[in-house]
This record gives sequence, C-alpha cells and structure tokens, in this order.
Amino acid sequence: MRILGVESSCDETGVAIYDGDRGLMSHVLHTQIAMHAQYGGVVPELASRDHVRRIVPLVREALSKAGCGMDSLDGIAYTAGPGLIGALLAGAMAAHSLAYALGIPAVPVHHLEGHLLAPMLEDPRPEFPFLALLISGGHTQLIRVQRPGDYEILGSSVDDALGEAFDKTAKLLGLPYPGGPALERLARAGRPTVDLPRPMVKDPGLDFSFAGLKTAVLTAVRRLGEPDETERSDLARSFTAAVVDTLTIKCTRALSRTGLSRLVVAGGVSANGFIREALTSLLEGQGGEVFFARREFCTDNGAMIAYAGHGRLLAGQVAGTEVRVWPRLPLSSLPPLGPGVGVDGKIC
Ligand code: KG4
Ligand code: ZN
Repeated sequence: MRILGVESSCDETGVAIYDGDRGLMSHVLHTQIAMHAQYGGVVPELASRDHVRRIVPLVREALSKAGCGMDSLDGIAYTAGPGLIGALLAGAMAAHSLAYALGIPAVPVHHLEGHLLAPMLEDPRPEFPFLALLISGGHTQLIRVQRPGDYEILGSSVDDALGEAFDKTAKLLGLPYPGGPALERLARAGRPTVDLPRPMVKDPGLDFSFAGLKTAVLTAVRRLGEPDETERSDLARSFTAAVVDTLTIKCTRALSRTGLSRLVVAGGVSANGFIREALTSLLEGQGGEVFFARREFCTDNGAMIAYAGHGRLLAGQVAGTEVRVWPRLPLSSLPPLGPGVGVDGKIC
C-alpha cells in the first residue's frame, strides 16, 4: 500500500509519501515561521490561508521526489486533529478532494499518533510495548503504548505544555518565535547558576506542571532588571536544567511503575539536545533503550502523518465522504488499530 500524507494542523505544511514495501519515499515541508515571527506567535487565519496556497505545489513536489504518479497511490492521509480548525480544514479538504478525484480512500490521522510513531521511521525502531514521552507545543504526556493504537495516558501537564513553556520563557529572555530552538542555542553558552523549581517532582503522580517554572524565570528576569548576555544564557541553561531534571524524574518513575524498559521520546521538544542527552544516559544507565525521531521528524511533518495513515489504511479505518476535523481530540478516543494489523503492516 502506498499513501500520501498531508500535515497542516498548525504552522507547518508537510507532505510525504510512504510505501509499505519501500518505506518513506519522499517528504517535503514548508514552514510558516518567518510569516508568523513578526507577530510573535501563530496567527490562525494567516496559517489557514498559507496552507491552502502550499498544499498542491508540495503534493506535486513530493510525487516528483518519490518518482511516482498519483495513480500509484492507494490512499490520502491527513491530520484530522487536534490543531487549529482552519488549518486542519485546509489539509482535510485537499486530502478529501484528491482522494475523491482518484477514487481512493481519505484517511484521517490523529496528530499525536503521528508524533508518537515518528520514531518508527528510524533504524533501529522501537518494539512494542514502550513508554512514550510526548512533548510538543500543545501536549506533555506520558503514555503506555501497548501496541499501535493502544494508548494509555499515565500523566499529563496540568497547565502549560512543555513546548509552550519553552516558547514563553524564550519570549521573557527576548528571543524570537518559536522560542524552543533559540532557547536551546542560548543555553549552550550558559551555566545552570540560577536556582529554579523542579515542579511536581515530589508529587507521587506522573503529571507535570510548567507554568510555575516559567513564572520563576520571570521573577529572576525582573530581579536582574536588564539581564546581560551572560545572565540570559545562564537563565536559559538553568531553565533547561530544571526541565531536564523534571523529565528525568518522571520518566524514571513511569518506567519503574510500568516495568517497561523502552522509552520513546516524541514531539517538537524532543529535538532538544539537552533532553536527548539526559534521557539517553538515563536509559543507558538502566540497561534500557531510548528512541527518538531524527530532529526534522520531531517537529510537525508530513512523514509521520503518512506513516500513521498507512497503518490506519491497512486496518480499513478510512473516512466517509463527510469532511470532519477536531480541534480537540484526546488520544484515548482513537479506536485500536485492528484487526490485528500493525502500523508497519505486519500482523501483530
Ligand atoms: O510538535 P510540534 O512541532 O508542534 C505541536 O504539535 O505542538 O512542537 C512545537 C514545539 C514548539 O513549542 C517549539 O518551541 C518546540 O516544539 N521546540 C523545541 C525545540 N525545537 C522545537 N523546544 C526545545 N528545544 C528545541 N530544540
Ligand atoms: Zn505537532
């Protein structure tokens, strides 16, 4: 089965082609970062309009890079939620139209299932079951993944998502949108000299809270008045150290409670080098294994949607003629990937 996937839930238009026998055949991306940067964040209406402009040229480019024609496709996957409603609709309408014209199914994909399974595109890839730490701009969750489609949420953020905390903290430090990558660069030059809280680590549960950490940075910035370059990089490094410690403590606890020895780290924030290094050494120390997607597949992309869509297509979970999207869509609402077919097309 060969499927084309379209991602358009926020500020990135991604298109990719995945084939069950040949693997990922092509992936292309247009990021709207430059367009939104002047406003300091994503402007939903501008995002929707830009997706409409970009999707068709990107579909052409993905087909040409893969060296295949539209007639070789067996389905068109798209992000059906969660995300910005207008942005989601742009992708869903394009996918449904293309699928209808070609007489093949349109396949709705859950954005977070896409993120969660993106490390399956790498070699080696994780075997099931595993613990997943999903850290993105909108979500922070610890999930027990028993098999594809079987997701049990063990813990979530009670306030800001981790990516949101990175973006807000970066703004406090005078960095441009999107703050995560800029904050990582700034932190590289700093030392963790500022004492910041490790939120909820004493709480026995697996939930997270990052709003207080961001406020602690705000208090430190105010205390310094106009922090110089060294003070700003020390603050960025101290914030990162608090995040790394918190994630390490919660992952250790979740691994021990579930008895799992494989950790998959996914979502935009999993591109962060400090987090990758810390969780790699944590799992090495425990004799377990850790898996990440390559950095460009940590943030939003079409490849993860094509891959997750391929599994759903094999399971026969395709859309009807009605075009529907869900701005909010809990991962636990997904049906299991049945009947006995894994995302990689193997019987599991
Ligand atoms: O997964 P994603 O692309 O979109 C959502 O589904 O939300 O995640 C975007 C988030 C943003 O908050 C961005 O600042 C953060 O991921 N991010 C990073 C890094 N790269 C992206 N955060 C920390 N360090 C990075 N290197
Ligand atoms: Zn995402």
